[in-house]
Amino acid sequence: MKLSVGQEIIVDVLSTGANGEGVGKYDNLTVFVKGAIDLERVKAKITKVAPTFLLAKLTEVIVSSPHRVKPICKNFGNCAGCDLLHMTYEHTLSVKQKIVLDTLKHVGGIDTVVSPTVPSTPHTRYRNKLALPIAVSSQGKTLIGFYREKSHQVVPTTDCVLQGEWIVDIIDSVRGMCDRHPDFREVLRHVVVRETGAKLMVTFVLKRGEVPDIEEFVYRNPKVSSIYISYNRRDTNVILGDELVKVYGDDRLSASTLGVRYTLSPYSFGQINDNVRDMIYNAVLDNIEADDIVIDAYSGAGLMTTILASKAREVYGIEIIPSAVRDADEVARLNGVSHKVTNIEGDCATQLPLLVDNLMRRRDIKNISVVLDPPRKGCDESVLEAVLRANPTRIIYVSCNPATLARDLKTLTKHYDITSVTPYDMFPYTKHVESLVCLTCQTN
Ligand SMILES: C[S@@+](CC[C@H](N)C(=O)[O-])C[C@H]1O[C@@H](n2cnc3c(N)ncnc32)[C@H](O)[C@@H]1O
Repeated sequence: MKLSVGQEIIVDVLSTGANGEGVGKYDNLTVFVKGAIDLERVKAKITKVAPTFLLAKLTEVIVSSPHRVKPICKNFGNCAGCDLLHMTYEHTLSVKQKIVLDTLKHVGGIDTVVSPTVPSTPHTRYRNKLALPIAVSSQGKTLIGFYREKSHQVVPTTDCVLQGEWIVDIIDSVRGMCDRHPDFREVLRHVVVRETGAKLMVTFVLKRGEVPDIEEFVYRNPKVSSIYISYNRRDTNVILGDELVKVYGDDRLSASTLGVRYTLSPYSFGQINDNVRDMIYNAVLDNIEADDIVIDAYSGAGLMTTILASKAREVYGIEIIPSAVRDADEVARLNGVSHKVTNIEGDCATQLPLLVDNLMRRRDIKNISVVLDPPRKGCDESVLEAVLRANPTRIIYVSCNPATLARDLKTLTKHYDITSVTPYDMFPYTKHVESLVCLTCQTN
């Protein structure tokens, strides 16, 4: 029988896929069912028929997994924020461990031990960054919430279990401002919030114009210590525009972690989960020796670079975004380690090979360690070649994408042995997983 979109099928779920979905077989084809859990029997509606696989949407659970729970958010399944709220937290951790294990094996051909996923504490309300899109419904109602998966349709919300409880009052007061000031609603694109400790920095992203009722907004959201307007007139997916104007409070948010002080501007890059970020930084630090020269590739706003400089002999950060490099210089200065830190602005693909050439000319260097923390697309081939040429004692790879991690490890393991692979739950209840992989040189 020919399979077609919309057809309902019964699937026995045999395993978990790379996005946390249930995977089974139907008519000799692999079926991916979002929302299904391994060992369940489910009814699902086909949404795509491809030559070797089917995509299907869960319609009914016939035999339920003991790991299934009622999602704690009513928007689960509509909003793109969470993927795994239908599982117990413990089960999401094993799913992520398995995703890393399977991906290393299938993409990289790497058969290795993967430690259990390190949990996040807390595992709800853990995000320190929020971006809320604003839209207007066809009935003229203000919509504030999150995007539906693969769309720019706003799913309205009053809360989000991944954000601090402050989100409720932020949404409520922005809705009030929009309802009272239709001109403001017309130009408001996003509200972006950054949180450190007890303080919030709010950025209103506008096409043009001003933010009304600022005093009332601050009164209703007492954690807010700083408000910016970012003017973004471009029609792209980039949220913040180039022009930034402070309209209330402090220029930057200040915070400290692991003995290091740092500050944030609306543009600064930062990991979104403080607890897991700190566990990863501590683990990286444990793998560094005091006489090491450390190359910190893809160094962002330089927080880890400065933490590493508290122990290592010298640290070289490389980062492509100019404002992040300026933040990195500032955090090194604030913590009195500028003499040990060099932040290089540019693409790792070109800057890392140059840095390696320079370091290899020096006779006073005993040990080099390399930290790689690339974006989702992983490392360029030229970066991996230069890392191998530097012959570092250790390579520490921090990855937010198991597939590109597996691809890059395939190259690195020609000369390096993996000593540990540890998934960290940086993004609880989403399909994403962070991994920390330590490698040592085969000749050491
Ligand atoms: C996952 S973040 C890591 C940031 C940092 N290590 C931290 O812990 O906060 C990746 C960083 O790589 C930067 N980046 C992306 N592509 C790059 C490239 N080709 N060369 C240098 N940096 C790049 C991004 O701007 C981002 O700051």
